[in-house]
Amino acid sequence: ISVKNVHRTRFHFQPPKHWINDPNAPMYYNGVYHLFYQYNPKGSVWGNIIWAHSVSKDLINWIHLEPAIYPSKKFDKYGTWSGSSTILPNNKPVIIYTGVVDSYNNQVQNYAIPANLSDPFLRKWIKPNNNPLIVPDNSINRTEFRDPTTAWMGQDGLWRILIASMRKHRGMALLYRSRDFMKWIKAQHPLHSSTNTGNWECPDFFPVLFNSTNGLDVSYRGKNVKYVLKNSLDVARFDYYTIGMYHTKIDRYIPNNNPIDGWKGLRIDYGNFYASKTFYDPSRNRRVIWGWSNESDVLPDDEIKKGWAGIQGIPRQVRLNLSGKQLLQWPIEELETLRKQKVQLNNKRLSKGEMFEVKGISASQADVEVLFSFSSLNEAEQFDPRWADLYAQDVCAIKGPTIQGGLGPFGLVTLASKNLEEYTPVFFRVFKAQKSYKILMCSDARRSSMRQNEAMYKPSFAGYVDVDLEDMKKLSLRSLIDNSVVESFGAGGKTCITSRVYPTLAIYDNAHLFVFNNGSETITIETLNAWGMDACKMN
Ligand code: FRU
Repeated sequence: ISVKNVHRTRFHFQPPKHWINDPNAPMYYNGVYHLFYQYNPKGSVWGNIIWAHSVSKDLINWIHLEPAIYPSKKFDKYGTWSGSSTILPNNKPVIIYTGVVDSYNNQVQNYAIPANLSDPFLRKWIKPNNNPLIVPDNSINRTEFRDPTTAWMGQDGLWRILIASMRKHRGMALLYRSRDFMKWIKAQHPLHSSTNTGNWECPDFFPVLFNSTNGLDVSYRGKNVKYVLKNSLDVARFDYYTIGMYHTKIDRYIPNNNPIDGWKGLRIDYGNFYASKTFYDPSRNRRVIWGWSNESDVLPDDEIKKGWAGIQGIPRQVRLNLSGKQLLQWPIEELETLRKQKVQLNNKRLSKGEMFEVKGISASQADVEVLFSFSSLNEAEQFDPRWADLYAQDVCAIKGPTIQGGLGPFGLVTLASKNLEEYTPVFFRVFKAQKSYKILMCSDARRSSMRQNEAMYKPSFAGYVDVDLEDMKKLSLRSLIDNSVVESFGAGGKTCITSRVYPTLAIYDNAHLFVFNNGSETITIETLNAWGMDACKMN
């Protein structure tokens, strides 16, 4: 078995080799989806960053093209970092990206346009000579000034973009305005900022509709809308978001009270997922989010041996959930075209300590959907008030899958070796807290690999799931298993967790999939549908 290939993904986006990070400027243009991404053309660690470019008709199968943007001019000689695309009203796409201008990492914002609009793949991009578009003024930290968003237009006819920055430890989304897309002026106030969060890398700002799966163009104006501000906290390495109101008169975003800004707030994904970015897809009237999932076998040696590092998560459709308090994310429906062998079962009861194997599909490459139900909440364990100060991840480390419980732990055991030397469980555990129930969802990589490597990152990723169980005693789980990826969606996409794992035994046909219950309350699998997955076309 080649070390190079065993953990490569077969339906998560990857280039043939080398390092990748942030997805950049995703867009749909004249029938084609474009994905650009941060790429090191020379090796499998971060560095020499250029914009690689791939195109697709369905967001699942990809054609790799030549790099679109790479350092060549004074205004980007030391790096072409992250950015976004905007499709102007005359149907012309433009990219704004960050150029690094010197070896101190000083940053400016530049633009690029397609050389030939009649090339359906938009292979070549030009960086006009009037770059840079935006240079930092004296109030701005020049090494923390990057990752421009898609532009939106206000009622006053001015374009607006956000740029990530920080002052002392205050993270912020700087706001710039322009009439002609060329001359940009900084607004007096950032759109939003928050203390002690560090730089807000890769900000993303977009409207979401109440009570609808439909997505909106970022310039949409109308009723029944809330806004989402997402940022990537460099220090935490997670993507956080809030939901709130965009007060267009004062050009400020004000989050609702409920989600907290920063470290303890809502996350796009509670696992290995960073620098995400959305785009509006007019062909299917939806908003789609992409995010980067880094390797967890963190020794540079591992990456050099493998010759590759980093993948993009499965594109997810995002929408506001009914309560208006959080997002729902769900793999785009095109993913289902890769489903092949299917197994299904209904109404199977799992009493305490039971575990059974789902057979008949390739368990190293699978899409599994399961709906659990139970008849009572009485067995839920007490939530220890001290845990309230911990992150869900720490609670999962205390209450792992083998620690017997009341209502849970129950869920899937993915990428398991026959005798469970290796496994990555994804499971729920319900606690009774003072006023309500707390549902913990874990994706626990601690036993995922037998490989001896102290530097391997094997966290017990976890998040809480906001479901009213008194209303309906059911919990759903979907996991996308792809060799070194377990990407899971709890309760229809309320809580998402991506883990990267490196099994040595549970590979290819030797990987197994189980369903388990380790709580005293009997759990019913109302339905389980599992499919083996074909490889997508990635070249
Ligand atoms: C986020 C990030 C961005 C930057 C890019 C450089 O992962 O650090 O802030 O533009 O990566 O590759």
